[in-house]
Amino acid sequence: MTTSRRTLLAATATTAGTLAAGLSAAPAAHAAPGRRPAREFFGRLADGTRVDRWTLANGGTRMAVLSYGGIVQSLELPDLRGRYANVSLGFDNLEDYVALSPYFGALIGRYGNRIAGGTFTLDGTAYQLPLNNGPNSLHGGTQGFDKRVWDVEPFVSGPDVGLTLRYVSGDGEMGYPGALSVRVDYTLTGGGDWRIDYRATTTRPTVVNLTSHVYFNLAGEGSGDVYDHELRIAAARYTPVDATLIPTGELAPVAGTPFDFRRSKPIGADIRVSHPQVLFGQGIDHNFVLDKGITRTPDNIVTVHEPRSGRTMRIATTEPGLQFYSGNFLDGSFAGTSGRVYRQGDGFCLETQHYPDSPNHPSFPTTVLRPGETYRSTTVHSFA
Ligand code: BGC
Repeated sequence: MTTSRRTLLAATATTAGTLAAGLSAAPAAHAAPGRRPAREFFGRLADGTRVDRWTLANGGTRMAVLSYGGIVQSLELPDLRGRYANVSLGFDNLEDYVALSPYFGALIGRYGNRIAGGTFTLDGTAYQLPLNNGPNSLHGGTQGFDKRVWDVEPFVSGPDVGLTLRYVSGDGEMGYPGALSVRVDYTLTGGGDWRIDYRATTTRPTVVNLTSHVYFNLAGEGSGDVYDHELRIAAARYTPVDATLIPTGELAPVAGTPFDFRRSKPIGADIRVSHPQVLFGQGIDHNFVLDKGITRTPDNIVTVHEPRSGRTMRIATTEPGLQFYSGNFLDGSFAGTSGRVYRQGDGFCLETQHYPDSPNHPSFPTTVLRPGETYRSTTVHSFA
């Protein structure tokens, strides 16, 4: 969508008072385009800590973000006719995020994805992390960055608006060495793109792999499965896994497998093919080796299009990998933001990242961060 059309849509929606398609139980993002993000009370954790909900809007895109986990609680986009829907799975209350959430919308760290046996050796010292996914450590352990309260500051910079989220993870937290100072900027650009800039520094050598765990459904959360979404991923190889979803170390060709998304195809097209890797993931839950590799600036890697609404999302990143997770473990055991039950395949994640279990695979691009270095990663979502 052109900037002018998105700006027009944003202005129309604001003046007409048609904010949100009514799919979100909580009030929609009220910030006018280009205006400073607004803060409201969202809830309190069991220990009394206040959690805020920040709302921001720009270029026709609206977003609500929680200080808890840096969670994108809603992401509202217009369809072809200008009707808004919340395209991210989540909840309308803090209690459900704490008790039920499979990382809906959250910032993931210190290490996104799995580390085999929850253990790795760095500079000759072995470290043990909490196991929270069978025999492995997933998404930073039992109390990862998704369960921390972040310090949030709003900003307006030229045509951009956004939030700066900061968190300091202590030396030894969740078993990881080094105090890690993390800064994540969520920016909504004047053209309505959502840009994420991750930065981190450490006091001791450590491993870092930060990502975002939004579950998308471009037809609107709670509207059913995502199998009709047409997905293209610029990756000729992927990392096959064992039965516990740990990479074998091989970079296998996608050609002739259900993992071939080099030409756009519906997410559901091959999800029932009886391929051993599909059985391990109960669908697709794999890291794609992006053809472009690591880049200094974000390169396009993904296009996903939902035919009924006409919404399209493109993703560009500096990262070398992408976990495509087709929402396989959503099992109908709870309802989301709009009160509709989430079942298998009702949302998908596209997590830009380094490869899973990199600390145990010297042949994979390194995830080691040393004092004096700055971890940098950028991912841009654009919408049309
Ligand atoms: C993983 C899935 C996991 C999910 C948790 C994804 O990033 O790849 O295996 O079940 O996170 O919600």
